Amino acid sequence: MRSGKAIFVIAVSMLLSAGVRSAEELSVDLMQTIEDTNKSLSSNIALSNKQGATADAKELTQMFAEVETFFDHKGDAKNAVDLAKQSKDLSSEIVGYVAANNFESATTAATTLSRTCRTCHTFYKKE
Ligand code: HEC
Repeated sequence: MRSGKAIFVIAVSMLLSAGVRSAEELSVDLMQTIEDTNKSLSSNIALSNKQGATADAKELTQMFAEVETFFDHKGDAKNAVDLAKQSKDLSSEIVGYVAANNFESATTAATTLSRTCRTCHTFYKKE
């Protein structure tokens, strides 16, 4: 009985998130997580926290892949697809820099990444 209920709850929440996707809105939760992870990445790079920075940069790589797919499917948003891809590539470059203990290049890439957020918001974020 209990596990049946849990499965029902999971099924409903999957339906709900599928509904959000089909509404052609970029998930606000995803962007909020990107925001938090990006902040965490900056401080981990500043602290030369190799493990933390690697985990954050890997997560960002994955999330920007999702953003890229979103805009790719949405269509008519070539600029956003490019910016998402650029963000994904920068995040994955950071993983490499951190692995090589090159925190200077990681910092430069993280600064460029933050600028890319703002560029995309200027064009694609309403309000
Ligand atoms: C390819 C485009 C694109 C990139 C790159 C991008 N964003 Fe966004 N972001 C958006 C769009 C579009 C919205 C508006 C989503 C909505 O309201 O449905 C948004 C919304 C947000 C929000 C507001 C969420 C809320 O609660 O309303 C935050 C915070 C955010 N982005 C942070 C970031 C950060 C930090 C980065 C970079 C590390 C980033 N974004 C990169 C497109 C992008």
